[in-house]
Amino acid sequence: MKIKNICCIGAGYVGGPTMAVIALKCPHINVTVVDANTKRIESWNGPLEKIPIYEPGLADVISEARGRNLFFSNDLKSAIEKSEMIFMAVNTPTKTEGEGEGMAADLRYIEACAKDIAKYSKSDKIVVEKSTVPIRTAEKIKEILEENSSNIHFEIISNPEFLAEGTAIQDLFKSDRVLIGGDETESGQKAVQALVDIYANWIPKEKILTTNVWSSELAKLASNSMLAQRISSVNSLSALCEKTGADIDELSKAIGMDHRIGPKFLKASVGFGGSCFQKDILNLVYLCKYYGLDEVAEYWHQVVKINDYQKDRFAQKIIDHFGGDLSGKTIAILGWAFKANTNDSRESASIMISETLLQCGAKLIVFDPQVSLKQILSDLKNYKSSFDSNIYDLNKKDLQSFDKKEFDCVAITTEWDEFKKLNFGELPLFDGRRIIAGNKITYKIGS
Ligand code: NAD
Ligand code: UGA
Repeated sequence: MKIKNICCIGAGYVGGPTMAVIALKCPHINVTVVDANTKRIESWNGPLEKIPIYEPGLADVISEARGRNLFFSNDLKSAIEKSEMIFMAVNTPTKTEGEGEGMAADLRYIEACAKDIAKYSKSDKIVVEKSTVPIRTAEKIKEILEENSSNIHFEIISNPEFLAEGTAIQDLFKSDRVLIGGDETESGQKAVQALVDIYANWIPKEKILTTNVWSSELAKLASNSMLAQRISSVNSLSALCEKTGADIDELSKAIGMDHRIGPKFLKASVGFGGSCFQKDILNLVYLCKYYGLDEVAEYWHQVVKINDYQKDRFAQKIIDHFGGDLSGKTIAILGWAFKANTNDSRESASIMISETLLQCGAKLIVFDPQVSLKQILSDLKNYKSSFDSNIYDLNKKDLQSFDKKEFDCVAITTEWDEFKKLNFGELPLFDGRRIIAGNKITYKIGS
C-alpha cells in the first residue's frame, strides 16, 4: 500500500519535528499536522523565528517543506478524511486524578483522538501510535474506533518516538533505530510495511526494526526507564563521592570506558527533567503493580526517588552554605529549561530546586536563554508555589554584566553554552551541571 497523505494529530515537540522530517524526506507524501490548540498551529504557520518549538535545525526543515508538502492546519475533519495514515502524537501525561493518580498515563487525549478518527473517517485507515503509551493501548484504541464507526477497517500500529529534545533533528535524520510494531495478521503486516516504506526513504533498512505491537509499546517505556536509571545510578554515586573524596566525573569516565557499559548518559546532574522520563517510569511502575509485580514496581520506582533526592540534595547544599536561612539572600538561577538547546521546561529540576530555595526565604533571579518569565511563573504556579513575587528574570543584556550584579550566590541548573563564558568572580557558585572550568567553584555535584 502506497501512502500519499498523512495526518498527524498533535503539533507538539514530537508531532512538529517528526512530521517536518517525514515531509522533507518524502516529497511525494502530503503531510498535514493538526492540533486542538489553534494558537500553536498559528505559530507553526508564522515567521520561522517564532515557531513554537526551539530545536536546532528545525527552522531549516520547516522552511524547506512548509507549503510544499507540509501543512499545519486546524481542519481536523478534512485532514483525517483525506489521509490513509494517521499518526497520534498527542500528550500522555501522568494522571492527576482517579484510578492510578500520580502514576498511570492519562489516556484522555488518545481516546479523544480515536473518537475523532472514527467520526471523520470515510475509508480504511492505518492509525499509528506515535505517543508513548502503556502496553496494550492499541487494544483500547481499536475498541473505541470500532464502537464509533461502521464498515471501516482500522489497523493500529505502534511506532514510538525516540528523539531527544535539543537534538531532535539529528536524531530523526540518523535514528539508532525505528521501531514499528504491528499485528501478525495479513492486514497488520501490510500496514507495518507501508510505514517501513516511508522511513526507508532515509533510514537504512537494517535500522528499521519490526515487532509485535506489545513489544513495541513496552520497548518505549523500557528504553526511557533504562536511560533514566543510568542517570539515577550515577547521581546516587555522586552522593557517595562527596563523602569519600572520589570525583564523580572520574568515576563516570572509568565506568563508561568498559564498552559493555559505554560512556553516554553517565553525567552526574541536578537530576533528570523533561516531560517523559519521570512520567514513563511511573507508568511502568503502575503497570508492574497492576500485574501484581510489586518487587519489580519498587525496583523502578527507586529511579524516580533518587532523582527527587538529587534535586533536594542540591538545594540543601545552598541552604546549608548560608546556615539554613536564606532570608535576604538573592540567588541567581542560571537555566530553567530541563536541558540545553530546548525551550521546554516541563519537569525541569530548576522548578523543585527553586521552590525549596523560595521556601527558605530566598529571592531568585532567573535567567534562561529560551524560557520566558511568564513560563517560569506558570511552572511554579503549577507546582503549587506561592512565592512568585520573589522571582525576577534577568534579561540577556544583564547577563553580559553578570558579575557586577548583587547576588549572594549563583546556581547553574541548565548546561547552556552561554553560561560557560561567564566569570563569577568571588561569588559562591553551585554548579549542578558541571559546566564551569576556571571559576571558583563552591560546590559542584560530586565534589
Ligand atoms: P506536547 O504537549 O508538546 O504536544 C501534544 C499536542 O497534542 C499539544 O499541542 C496538544 O494541544 C495536542 N492535542 C492533545 N489532544 C488533542 C486532540 N484530541 N486533538 C488535537 N490535538 C490534541 O507533547 P509532546 O512532547 O510532543 O509529546 C507527545 C507524545 O510523544 C507523548 O506521549 C510523549 O511521551 C511522547 N514523546 C515525547 C518526546 C519529547 O521529547 N517531547 C519524545 C518521544 C516521545
Ligand atoms: C529522552 C530520551 O533520551 C529520548 O530517547 C526519548 O525519546 C525522550 O526522552 C522521550 O521519550 O521524551 P529528552 O527527555 O528529550 O529525551 O532528553 P534527554 O537528553 O534524555 O535528557 C533528559 C534529562 O536527563 C535532562 O534533564 C538531562 O539533563 C538529563 N541527563 C541526561 C543527565 O542528567 N545526565 C546524562 O548523562 C544525560
